[in-house]
Amino acid sequence: MREQLEEIRRRALAELGDGAVEAAIENVRVRVLGRTGELTEIMRAMRTVPNAERPALGRLVNEIKSELEGRIATLSDALKRAAMEHALGAAQIDVTLPGMHIPRGWLHPVTLSRERMLEIFAAMGFEVVETQDVEDDFHNFGALNFPADHPAREMQDTFFLPGGLLLRTHTSNGQIRVMEQRRPPLAIVCPGNCYRRDELSVRASPMFSQIEGFMVDRAGAITMGHLKGVISEFLRAFFGQGIGVRFRASFFPFTEPSAEVDISCLLCAGAGCRVCKQSGWTEILGSGMIHPNVLRAVGYDPAEYQGFAFGMGVERTSLLKLGVDDLRLFFENDLRFLGQFRSASEAAS
Ligand code: PHE
Repeated sequence: MREQLEEIRRRALAELGDGAVEAAIENVRVRVLGRTGELTEIMRAMRTVPNAERPALGRLVNEIKSELEGRIATLSDALKRAAMEHALGAAQIDVTLPGMHIPRGWLHPVTLSRERMLEIFAAMGFEVVETQDVEDDFHNFGALNFPADHPAREMQDTFFLPGGLLLRTHTSNGQIRVMEQRRPPLAIVCPGNCYRRDELSVRASPMFSQIEGFMVDRAGAITMGHLKGVISEFLRAFFGQGIGVRFRASFFPFTEPSAEVDISCLLCAGAGCRVCKQSGWTEILGSGMIHPNVLRAVGYDPAEYQGFAFGMGVERTSLLKLGVDDLRLFFENDLRFLGQFRSASEAAS
């Protein structure tokens, strides 16, 4: 039995060598020290051993047991420590690694243009007022002197909403909203989104933005001359001092007289090219003296007050300024396109 015990010890210690893996250790623990393990079996067989030999054999069993237990504990500790060191090592911060790139945004070219436009008007003393996108017929059409049967009110142009509401088709509702609330003198610019039932194409979009501007004061104080002065000043500040500006008689229900404003073609500088259809000019905005009916609609007496108004598309104006040839580029949000205006955005911020 003594030899048997020595054999158990020798085998177990061989298996519990320095490189022993967890499974091997567990294997020895169960096989040798377990409840039905080899040492337990020996203890059970002790009955058959002569009395005189029993104490010495018992001691040997205990000695082997604690030796193996000690060895198992040592090995398990080492394994645990190694596992922890491994985990800590993996989580260690390597300060020499390149940092994580966190992309930083920049302003959209249309936003940049809008801000530049508003800045120019602000420098001329205009106040910026935002008005609502969801309107009623009165503020978008009626008060602006649109006849009841005007085609712009029809389904193909206007997005109608339930409850007699609609999405504004222009920022001219801003004139009505502001004048209803306030009395002259007024010098206001209203930026905002507008909506029309147009397909998205090279030159049109169902959603776009405009800047409306108007100036109202005592009759005689604000004339067509002021309109020409403010608009020319704005266009030269925005497009460059050398730009040609032309006022052309036109028609809008809410202005009388009305004028469309052209700038000399930015591409050919007025010589005539494909973009300006050989005319040398590009249309840029609508304007005019506010119609007496519009003043009446907001409770102003046209004999007492007079003013001018203008409105222009922000995308269209940006497009000309930036030399972009397709309006859709402004709405697609392709970073390869938008990224080209990044330095302009950074310079502005
Ligand atoms: N509201 C007109 C448009 O959308 C522009 C305009 C505004 C014209 C003010 C004259 C005066 O085309």
